[in-house]
Amino acid sequence: MKKMKKNQKKQNGGDMVLLTGTSHPELAQEIAKKLGIPLGAVKLGRFPEGEIALQILDNIRGKDVFIVQPTCTPPNESLMELLILIDAARRASAKRITAVLPFFGYARQDRKDRPRVPITAKLVANLIVSAGANRVLTMDLHAGQIQGFFDIPVDHLYSINVLGAYFKKKRLKNLVVVSTDVGGIKMARGYAKLFGCDLAIVDKRRESDSKTEVMHIIGFVTGKNVIIIDDMISTGGSLVEAAKALKSNGAKDIYSCIVHPVLAGKAIERIQGSPIKELVVTNSIPLGKEKQIKQITQLSIASLLADAIYRIHYNESISTLFSSAGVEA
Ligand code: R5P
Repeated sequence: MKKMKKNQKKQNGGDMVLLTGTSHPELAQEIAKKLGIPLGAVKLGRFPEGEIALQILDNIRGKDVFIVQPTCTPPNESLMELLILIDAARRASAKRITAVLPFFGYARQDRKDRPRVPITAKLVANLIVSAGANRVLTMDLHAGQIQGFFDIPVDHLYSINVLGAYFKKKRLKNLVVVSTDVGGIKMARGYAKLFGCDLAIVDKRRESDSKTEVMHIIGFVTGKNVIIIDDMISTGGSLVEAAKALKSNGAKDIYSCIVHPVLAGKAIERIQGSPIKELVVTNSIPLGKEKQIKQITQLSIASLLADAIYRIHYNESISTLFSSAGVEA
C-alpha cells in the first residue's frame, strides 16, 4: 500500500478518477484514502418528482473512471444511480469506466427456478453494460457464474483473506466450518482448508422468502466450535435456523462469517435471540446504527478493493490478491 501511495503521488493522481453515488460513500472515501487520491466531485440530488438529478463536476475526459456503488438497499435507487453515473461518465468522454460493485444486488435471481420468473441478475448485468461500463470489479458473488452474465471483463475478488485472518487470530480449537446450504459448499470448503478443519453442511429447505427449515445436518458438530459460512445474510432465517439446529446437535460456541450484511426485515432481532456468539461481516454494505449490535463485527474490505483498483489501473495482475484465498476452483 505504501508503494501504491508513492507511485500514485509520483503520477500526481495519474488519470485515475474515483466516483461514488449515495449507496456507500464511506467505503468509497476509505478506498480513495488508501489510493491517496480525492473522491471525484459529483452533484447528486432528486428532482421534485423523485427522478435522480446528477452532474459530475470534475473534468473526466480521457480519464480512467472507477464508480464505487454497491447495489444494496434501497436496491433500485442504488442501481439507477449507478446506471446514471456510468451514463454521465461515458458522455463526459471517460477513457474507461469500471463499475465497482462490492455487493451485486439481485444476484440471487440468477436462474429460472419456477415458471414465468425473470432472471433479474442477467437483466441488471445487461443494464450495466448498456449504460457504458467497460469493466466490472466485484466481490463474493452469490454464484461465480454470474461473471458470465457480463460481456465485458469481470474481476471477481474474495474477502476470505480478510475474514479468515480475523478468525485465525482467535485460535479457535476443535473447529468445524458449516455451510448453510449445498450451494455454499465450495465457499465453505475454502474456509475449512484455510483453517485446516472439517466441513459440515446444513440441508435446508426454503419455505418462503423469509422462512427456512433445517432438514438435516451432514457431518459431525457435537462438542465442536462452529463457524457458519455464507455469502450473504438477508432476513437471517438461514443463519439463525442453522445455528439453532447446530446447538441442539451439541455444537459448542457458534460463530458466523458472512460476506454481505444485507440484514433485512427482522434479521437483527433474530440474531439477538439466537445462540450466535459473533457474526463477522464485511463493509461491502453499510451497517446503519440500528444494525450495529454487539454480536456483529464489521471488517473493512477497502484495502482489498483499493489494491484491485490500483492494479486494474496500471494493468497489473490481480490474481495475486486471491491466490492465497484457499477458494477451491
Ligand atoms: C442463499 O442461497 C444464500 O447463500 C443465503 O443463504 C441466503 O440468501 C440468506 O438469506 P436469509 O438470510 O433471508 O435466509
